[in-house]
Amino acid sequence: MIKLAIFVSGTGTNAAKIIDYFSQHKLVLVDLIVVNKPNAGVLSVAKTHHIDTWLIERSAFYETDCYLNDLKTRGIDFLILAGFLWKVPEYLVSAFPNKIVNIHPALLPKFGGKGMYGMKVHEAVVDAGEKETGITIHYVNEQYDEGAIIFQSSCTVEPTDTPEIVAQKVHELEHRHFAEVLEGIVIGRQSFS
Ligand code: GAR
Repeated sequence: MIKLAIFVSGTGTNAAKIIDYFSQHKLVLVDLIVVNKPNAGVLSVAKTHHIDTWLIERSAFYETDCYLNDLKTRGIDFLILAGFLWKVPEYLVSAFPNKIVNIHPALLPKFGGKGMYGMKVHEAVVDAGEKETGITIHYVNEQYDEGAIIFQSSCTVEPTDTPEIVAQKVHELEHRHFAEVLEGIVIGRQSFS
């Protein structure tokens, strides 16, 4: 089996969709959910599906490679960032080349970079008077939101749309596409590097 570890900082609705999508899959297994906040809603979904969860600690994540060793020992093949807001340290990027995938709630390279996450992105999109926005699925490198783009999908932004409405449209796109795009990446139907 191809083993995924999904990293989550927020509610984890994308992670929940991915868990559901792969729950009966013959080749792909969601083996681990990694959170950096104890209240992530995805923890109960993971429990229902008997998926192990880790609550990681900031200093251990940045100052040691203990999590890397544990990920390798478990045989994790891909790290999936589904609303994970900590920067991925260099040691992890080099240990998983083109094996770390992030979803960003805008059309990169617009509205990316440090501090651009969640509602902040949608507020910036509305403030800039954009006519469209969307999602970007991309590989992770050492810089925030700068790894090679794998997939994008867009939606319109109406002049009357609030950031909350934009967030809803973007979430719908994420829920529609993320798991299926991941499937293509991890089983090698699509190759991007
Ligand atoms: C998603 O919209 C994701 O694109 C975004 O966080 C949200 C998490 O939602 N990620 C970023 O902003 C990363 N820069 P979820 O917890 O409901 O899946």
